[in-house]
Amino acid sequence: MTTNTKYWTPADGDAGLTEAAAALAAGGVVAFPTETVYGLGADARSEAAAERIFAAKGRPSDNPLIVHLADASGVEALAAGVSPLERELMAAFWPGPLTLVLPVRPGAVAARVTAGLDTVAVRVPAHETARRLIAAAGCPVAAPSANRSGRPSPTRAQHVLDDLDGRIDGVLDGGPTGVGVESTVVRVLGGDVHILRPGGVTAEQLRDAVGEAGRIVAGGAGDAALNAGSADGVVPDAVGAASAAGSAAVGTAAGASLAAAGDAPGAPRSPGVKYAHYAPAGVMAVASGAPEAVRAAVQAAVDAARRRGELVGVLCCDEHAGFYSGADAVIALGPRAAPEAAAQALYAALRECDARGLRFIAAEAFPEEGLGAALMNRMHKAAGGRVLPERAP
Ligand code: TXA
Ligand code: MG
Repeated sequence: MTTNTKYWTPADGDAGLTEAAAALAAGGVVAFPTETVYGLGADARSEAAAERIFAAKGRPSDNPLIVHLADASGVEALAAGVSPLERELMAAFWPGPLTLVLPVRPGAVAARVTAGLDTVAVRVPAHETARRLIAAAGCPVAAPSANRSGRPSPTRAQHVLDDLDGRIDGVLDGGPTGVGVESTVVRVLGGDVHILRPGGVTAEQLRDAVGEAGRIVAGGAGDAALNAGSADGVVPDAVGAASAAGSAAVGTAAGASLAAAGDAPGAPRSPGVKYAHYAPAGVMAVASGAPEAVRAAVQAAVDAARRRGELVGVLCCDEHAGFYSGADAVIALGPRAAPEAAAQALYAALRECDARGLRFIAAEAFPEEGLGAALMNRMHKAAGGRVLPERAP
């Protein structure tokens, strides 16, 4: 079934926002900007509205949705209880790219939204348009990223239209998003803050905020374990290794202690991390290590892809953009030492690889400090855990 998808430009101003809010209040599905990526919103209390999100995206029904609020005051209506440590995190990071998984108040949101779990994921986005839209709609707004399931998340309204035109009620254009990767999803258990998905709030920021009050458990609790069952059957050793390296890197910093959750029994998990995500249509692989080794591995992969007769692209840091020869596209993501720029650019770059019909994408790893942890989590997932140099067959 196709729908006439409305497109509200920034020039439509308040009139566009009012129409989009009315569509949400009436049970529609509307895409809107947040500071991380565009979300696909619907009334979180309505089973039918939530169902339309899953249908439009082609999303597996066991993957729960994040509920977005205009401000923190709405959290009491959704959560069965909020601990002092959870309150500290909300005070420190809301509005902003932190999602808290909380015990759900029975009946507060549609069962479709929590995928039947006894918890609900909640966040207050930092984007002004998002908060005004949610306030005007007058309901909690369930919203996953506004892409077709498995595709890179949208960082511009055009990306949403490319994936979902004709399948949703409208898109509210707020320009390119700022952070470029999704929110950090955390679950607080006892004094431990488990990072279920790295994102816009870094492990270092969490550690600074909780001080002595909490222990940050980084390294993607259950991430590697759940990825072992990912749809494409790839067991991404690189993802686990990268996460371990990331937590080791932050673990050396002072402050609250850091620990890797690994496969600890009972460690909290985020269902979404098991799915193949953010993937371009071509085959992607990531080279890590010292800059010279990375350049050699990427150039060798470019040469090999050309010998196979494939269109090949490179994703690299600005400093290396002039180095590569023979690639059909070289996309510089930003300075090597500034993961913020690369995080902002990554999803658009993956979509550009598709638009250019690239069959092989050789990507340089960035350092995993700060936002680099979330950036590399997404790059390794886009690559399905494939690393360079490729093993001999
Ligand atoms: O930045 C973001 O978080 C964006 C914008 C639109 O807010 N949203 C987003 O949603 O990335 P989505 O659906 O693409 O990812 C939600 C993640 C998934 O990994 C999902 O499994 C997890 O949050 N999640 C949702 N509810 C959960 C719950 N109750 N327990 C554990 N994980 C949960
Ligand atoms: Mg998503």
